[in-house]
Amino acid sequence: MPAAGIVPGPGNGKEYPGNLTLYVTITCMVAAMGGLIFGYDIGISVCVFFRWGDVDGLVLKKFFPSVYEKQKADSSTNQYCKFDSQTLTMFTSSLYLAALASSLVASWVTRKLGRKLSMLFGGLLFCAGALINGFAQKVWMLIVGRIFLGFGIGFANQSVPLYLSEMAPYKYRGALNIGFQLSITIGILVANVLNYFFAKIKGGWGWRLSLGGAVVPALIITIGSLVLPETPNSMIERDQREEARIKLKRIRGVEDIEEEFNDLVAASEASRKVEHPWRNLLQRKYRPQLTMAILIPFFQQLTGINVIMFYAPVLFKTIGFGSDAALMSAVITGVVNVGSTLVSIYGVDKWGRRFLFLEGGTQMLFCQIVVAACIGAKFGIDGEPGHLPKWYAIVVVLFICIYVAGFAWSWGPLGWLVPSEIFPLEIRSAAQSINVSVNMIFTFIIAQVFLVMLCHLKFGLFIFFAFFVVVMTIFVYFFLPETKNIPIEEMVIVWKQHWFWSRFMTDVDYPANGAVEMGKGGNSTKYV
Ligand code: BGC
Repeated sequence: MPAAGIVPGPGNGKEYPGNLTLYVTITCMVAAMGGLIFGYDIGISVCVFFRWGDVDGLVLKKFFPSVYEKQKADSSTNQYCKFDSQTLTMFTSSLYLAALASSLVASWVTRKLGRKLSMLFGGLLFCAGALINGFAQKVWMLIVGRIFLGFGIGFANQSVPLYLSEMAPYKYRGALNIGFQLSITIGILVANVLNYFFAKIKGGWGWRLSLGGAVVPALIITIGSLVLPETPNSMIERDQREEARIKLKRIRGVEDIEEEFNDLVAASEASRKVEHPWRNLLQRKYRPQLTMAILIPFFQQLTGINVIMFYAPVLFKTIGFGSDAALMSAVITGVVNVGSTLVSIYGVDKWGRRFLFLEGGTQMLFCQIVVAACIGAKFGIDGEPGHLPKWYAIVVVLFICIYVAGFAWSWGPLGWLVPSEIFPLEIRSAAQSINVSVNMIFTFIIAQVFLVMLCHLKFGLFIFFAFFVVVMTIFVYFFLPETKNIPIEEMVIVWKQHWFWSRFMTDVDYPANGAVEMGKGGNSTKYV
């Protein structure tokens, strides 16, 4: 059926020679660690103030006295509204606005100065943020620190996924790129566990270790970026052709890299003609890529995952768990998150992106409905739980875990992988910034409004996200072509063969000899 998109088989496109060399594997593992800073931050940001990190309320009292007073005075028993505080959510989410702004600057750095340099800036800025936060004396220091962290994340998230997709041999691109998401999930888990232990430090200064501890992942990516090689694509883009040829041989582990090399050169020549990548993105011929750069991160956030990542303990407490049980459940979801990402590393280049998207979407939908029903049945609309039987708590945690697993092998990793592999070189950097920006805007919005939504929509919150999961799953089914096993500079083939997107891919813009306005170099491609 045409709507199901295209599964390109061998013979449809090129098959560049190349192996999964030790060199490329290690390089990609190091680069993927760029995800740690993002993950660590997701893990600590809310927990230090909202969750178990501030057991005695000392941090709250020091930095946010009015919130502290309000919480103390609040004697209402309505569980849905217990944690609603705009000041703290604003503080948490300021980071995402900073990340958004810096990803736009990173677009220029990544294109003109290379992927490595953007990673280096990411590490350094994040490091500065971690230090300012760790030593914070006044609330403005916390805010400035968070803004620096955001700047760092903007640079890293803009450059790392591109770096990985360009480095990887196309047959293993999915698996190597998902190393980024794996690091995000490890960062979240480590932060949650550390935070729990630091909170037990007597004297209430453990939060300084949680926040300052972010220098560790920051140093990893900073040092990593200094030792990593630049991608051949970026070297060619910056006129270092011969070095790029040598590097490509080393990365692929074969001598016969001419075909791939020529295509990279051709892509770079096309890219050079483009003076205004941003304006260029608006051209009709990039409509499919632009649509994906906006909708994929939008949908990723509208799965509702960050409600669980940020607020799982709050949520578990809300539905009646004790503090320790809430913490335990959050750690369990963290472990499920890491484990299920491994499943997608295993499957993404075998089963394809579409399969994971469709399966993951269906799984998340089912769980959201069950969780909404469970919470609704117990709390009704007034938010009074009464006594919660143990089996009930287990069912809720179990379905939240199955939901997290569904996300962790679909929208989590693919939300970063797919955009990074579908943009042609000439718009790659700018389009990736849009991807990061949209992701950050919606992470911000959800972090900002979740507590208010929980207060007003009650269990309907899960239905709200379930609705979007239905929409995104239908969208993938009809509009997202399969991209597994397609070399990154040959990606135009998937749009040209797609029942809907092909109307934007005219032969004038994309000549059938396989080169995207590239002239030479692509004439052995067997496009339909
Ligand atoms: C998302 C984050 C999310 C994380 C959870 C990432 O892909 O961008 O917003 O918190 O996955 O593992």
